[in-house]
Amino acid sequence: MDADELTSLHREFLKDSVRLRFDFSTTAQSRGIPPPALQKAYPAEARTVALPGPERFGELGAASLLSLLRSRRSVRRYADEPLSLAELAFLLWATQGVTANPGPAVTMRTVPSAGARHAFETYLYCRRVEGLEEGIWRYLPLEHRLLFEFSEPGLGARISAACLGQRFVSQGAATFFWSVLPSRMEWRYGPAAHRVLPLDAGHVCQNLYLAAEAIGAGACAVGAYDQQALDTLLRLDGEEEFVIYLAPVGKKNG
Ligand SMILES: Cc1cc2nc3c(=O)[nH]c(=O)nc-3n(C[C@H](O)[C@H](O)[C@H](O)COP(=O)(O)O)c2cc1C
Repeated sequence: MDADELTSLHREFLKDSVRLRFDFSTTAQSRGIPPPALQKAYPAEARTVALPGPERFGELGAASLLSLLRSRRSVRRYADEPLSLAELAFLLWATQGVTANPGPAVTMRTVPSAGARHAFETYLYCRRVEGLEEGIWRYLPLEHRLLFEFSEPGLGARISAACLGQRFVSQGAATFFWSVLPSRMEWRYGPAAHRVLPLDAGHVCQNLYLAAEAIGAGACAVGAYDQQALDTLLRLDGEEEFVIYLAPVGKKNG
């Protein structure tokens, strides 16, 4: 396929025309198949850490939404200062926090999601977070806890290399990686799922920008990376789950 054909195909993908070419009565949901789990399972003996809840977040910053919107910028240089656990909890809650459970297989969160499917998991490379071992952690939105995934030497350098040499990506206090489990969205929308998934990811990252700004930190959205290298690094299968977006975050200098 040449570049023109690829461009035309991708433009088509951006349109919601797929809806007219697909029979929604054939989706897994329409066929009565139960929905995929809202959160990836983890072993009962796994190490998890409770996170401070929203009742603590009022202490963290009182800037108005207007000023946050006005001052937000992509930040690629970070202070050495760590994030507190409450600050990290706030960023996680702002990006994926559950605010209502209207049914057994449905969550409403701080971000919107097509069909409330919430097809992402959040992995963190925690580098400078008070009380947390350096390594890869995963947010458990249903419990508002952190799950320790693994640690290994040279994580920061490997992350930057997998992000095509963008060194700042591993130099914040933490790096957020959002993986997508497409089946959660396909269950309802079939092949119309894929168009809305990147739209959903945008909401999540924008909330990270605004929440970071509220606590004197900054983030930078990153969409350029080596897909296979990053999926391998985070131990994702690359088919049922793969990275869709990421953003380092850290306190601002000065
Ligand atoms: C989808 C997306 C992907 C991006 N990918 C990268 C990236 O890989 N590397 C980078 O340094 N900045 C990246 N950025 C940040 C943009 O360069 C930045 O948002 C833009 O220059 C506007 O600056 P501002 O965010 O400060 O307003 C990305 C932003 C978006 C929204």
